[in-house]
Amino acid sequence: MTIVAPIRVDCIVGARPNFIKMAPILAAFTAHGGFATRLMHTGQHYDVDMNAVFFQQLGLPEPNLNLEIGSGTQTVQTARIMIGLEEAFQNDRPDLVLVVGDVNSTVAAAMVSAKMRIPLAHVEAGLRSFDMDMPEEINRLVTDRLSDLLLTTERAAGPLLESEGVRADAIHFVGNVMIDTLLAHLDKAIPVAETVDRHAPGMANRLAEGYALVTLHRPSNVDNPEQLAGLLGVLGELAERMPVIFTLHPRTKARIEENGQEGLLEKRGIIAVPPLSYFEMQGAVRTATVVVTDSGGLQEETTALGVPCLTVRDNTERPITIIEGTNTLVGSSPDALRAEIKRLARGESKRGRIPELWDGKAAERIAAVIAEFIAARRA
Ligand code: UD1
Repeated sequence: MTIVAPIRVDCIVGARPNFIKMAPILAAFTAHGGFATRLMHTGQHYDVDMNAVFFQQLGLPEPNLNLEIGSGTQTVQTARIMIGLEEAFQNDRPDLVLVVGDVNSTVAAAMVSAKMRIPLAHVEAGLRSFDMDMPEEINRLVTDRLSDLLLTTERAAGPLLESEGVRADAIHFVGNVMIDTLLAHLDKAIPVAETVDRHAPGMANRLAEGYALVTLHRPSNVDNPEQLAGLLGVLGELAERMPVIFTLHPRTKARIEENGQEGLLEKRGIIAVPPLSYFEMQGAVRTATVVVTDSGGLQEETTALGVPCLTVRDNTERPITIIEGTNTLVGSSPDALRAEIKRLARGESKRGRIPELWDGKAAERIAAVIAEFIAARRA
C-alpha cells in the first residue's frame, strides 16, 4: 500500500473580502480530502467589525499564524507581509500557496511564493480595470503574472490572460467563490430592520417603502475632500426620496472626520452605520431598492441577488456584472450619480441574469484543480 502525503496548502488572507472568499475554499479542501491546510492571516484588517466577526460568522478556523501587520502605506504593508511570510515558508515550506482577490496581502504573498519557487494559485484571476491608479490593479497584474494556477470567475478572463501571455493550461474557469459563500449563508441573512434597530435605534420603521444601501471606500472616491463632499451631497438628495443606509468603512469615516464633513451626514434620511457583519450586509443587500457602491464584491453579490447596483467608479474589473448582471457603471462624478438616481426613480432599473458557474460550487472545482495539479507534479 502506498501512503500519499497530504497536499500542504497555505491559504493567505488579510482583508475583509479575503475572509469571505477563503471560507468555502477551506471547506472544500476538507470535503475533498487529502489536503493539509494552514490559514495564514496577515493582519491587514484587524478591527473586530472588519475581521473577527467574519471569522465567527463564516466558521473560519483560528489562523495558524497572524502577522499583525496592521495599517500602513501600500509599500509598508506589502513589505511587512513579505518579510513575515518568507520566514513562515522557510520554517515550514508548503506544496502550494493559495491567494484570493487583489488586496495588498494577495500580491505580497504572491511575490514571496514566486521568489521561493513555491507553486502559486490565484483565485479570482484575470480581472482587469485597466486603471493603474487603483492599487488593486497593480496587485492583480503582478499576482496573475506570477501564478502557476489561474482560477477565474468569468469566462472572458481566460482569453484576457492568454493575451497577456499566460499559458492556456494554467487557466481554469471555476466560478465565483464569493457567490459560494453568499448562497451557503443566505438563510442566515439578518433582516434589515433588525440591523438598523441595532445600530440606529428608532429608524427602522422608515424602511418599509424601500431604501438605498451605500458603501464607499475607494481612495479615488474618499481621499479627495471635494469628491467626497460631492458624493455625500448627492446621497443627501437621494435621502429625500428614500432612506439611505450608509455603512462607513474606517477609511471613509476617518476622511469625513478629517475634513469636518460630518454635517453632510446629518440629513434626516441618512442612516449612518458602522461596517456591517456578513449576515447583516447580505440581509440589507437582499431587500434594498438599490445599492450604491465602489466595492468589487458588492457588484457581484447584487448581480447574484438580482438587486440593482450603481457603481460609482469610472471602470470595473468585473464586466460580467454589467453585461449580464444588474450593475450599472455610473462613473465617479457626483452629477452622473445624480442622473442615474433620477433614472432609477423613473422605474428604469436593470434586470439581469446569474452568470455562468456562479452556482455555489466554485470552491469544489478549485479543490479538484489543485489536487490534479499537485498529483501531476509529484508523478
Ligand atoms: C483594502 C483593499 C481593498 C478592499 C478593502 C475592503 C488593498 C490595496 N485594498 O482597502 O481592495 O476593497 O480592503 O475593505 O489592499 N483600517 C482600520 N481598521 C481595520 C482596517 C483598516 O481602521 O481593521 C483603516 C486603516 O488604518 C487605513 C484604512 O482603514 O487607514 C484603510 O485600510 P487598508 O487596509 O489600507 O485598505 P482598505 O482601504 O481597507
